[in-house]
Amino acid sequence: MKKIELHLHLEGAAPASFIRGLAAEKHIDLSGAFDAHGHYAYRDFAEFLRVYEAAISVLQTPQDFARLLAEVLERSAEQGVIYTELFVSPEFCGGADLSAWRDYLAAMSEVAARMRLKGIDSRGIVTAIRHFGPDRARKSAICAAETADGWITGFGMGGAETVGRATDYAWSFDCAREAGLGLTCHAGEWGGPDSIRDALDLGVSRIGHGVRAIDDPALVRDLAARETVLEVCPGSNIALGLWPDWAAHPIARLLDAGMKLTISTDDPPFFHTTMRHEYARLADAFGWGEQEFTQMNQWAIDAAFCDEETRARLR
Ligand code: ADE
Ligand code: ZN
Repeated sequence: MKKIELHLHLEGAAPASFIRGLAAEKHIDLSGAFDAHGHYAYRDFAEFLRVYEAAISVLQTPQDFARLLAEVLERSAEQGVIYTELFVSPEFCGGADLSAWRDYLAAMSEVAARMRLKGIDSRGIVTAIRHFGPDRARKSAICAAETADGWITGFGMGGAETVGRATDYAWSFDCAREAGLGLTCHAGEWGGPDSIRDALDLGVSRIGHGVRAIDDPALVRDLAARETVLEVCPGSNIALGLWPDWAAHPIARLLDAGMKLTISTDDPPFFHTTMRHEYARLADAFGWGEQEFTQMNQWAIDAAFCDEETRARLR
């Protein structure tokens, strides 16, 4: 089945073997980041973020990011993904310095153009890191706004959701909107319904995760009425312990409540998942088949941060 993925962190999609290889090339000791099998090792979300940032420390040049993007897009294509949106943080590409960011982006855009010819189209979403604070987010927003004329078509925010309020980042989201970028924000993963409401106040059309809306029926109705699209990553939520197993995950209840949902993997090697794995587990847990998955891919196409010509081609 052809798939659309809207929520994939480029750095978080780095296979552990890719990061270990780069660490060896650069003589960087990352041994604490991996378990005995060579997989990423963490016990909770705070440690996940630390390991994630440690792994990223080996990605140092535009060429490193270009190699990573090629590897990630190859793997996505193998999963039947024909279009993917990747979160990329200028913070990790030269410290959100605009001139450095342009170099990183040029290298990644070249790879994206090459991979497009091989059947997988992609766009980049510049991503601020919430726990780095509003001032650093502004620098990322400026990088996004200044490069909003090519592969970069969106702006978003990830990181530790319980740090501050989403509305502290309004300047950055306004800056990105004025540059014509699509907007999404992680919310309702570690924070509750109020965190999702704050994200809506930023004017986003999509929410990263958003699944804890299930705790507030009025919010679910509001999200459905606004047609806000949730980028749901069930395997990520289960791996991070938000729900004990697939059957307990609220995705089916949110769908039944009339919400527009899409399916993504977030950081697949960290969560031992793939797009095929997500679809297979959802089929097992909820009896979903072609009808449900086709509908969710249609919503993903409608909500994608791409031009109308691309949207028409994907349909
Ligand atoms: N960055 C990478 N993965 C993330 C997640 N699941 N939540 C918040 N920020 C992230
Ligand atoms: Zn995410």
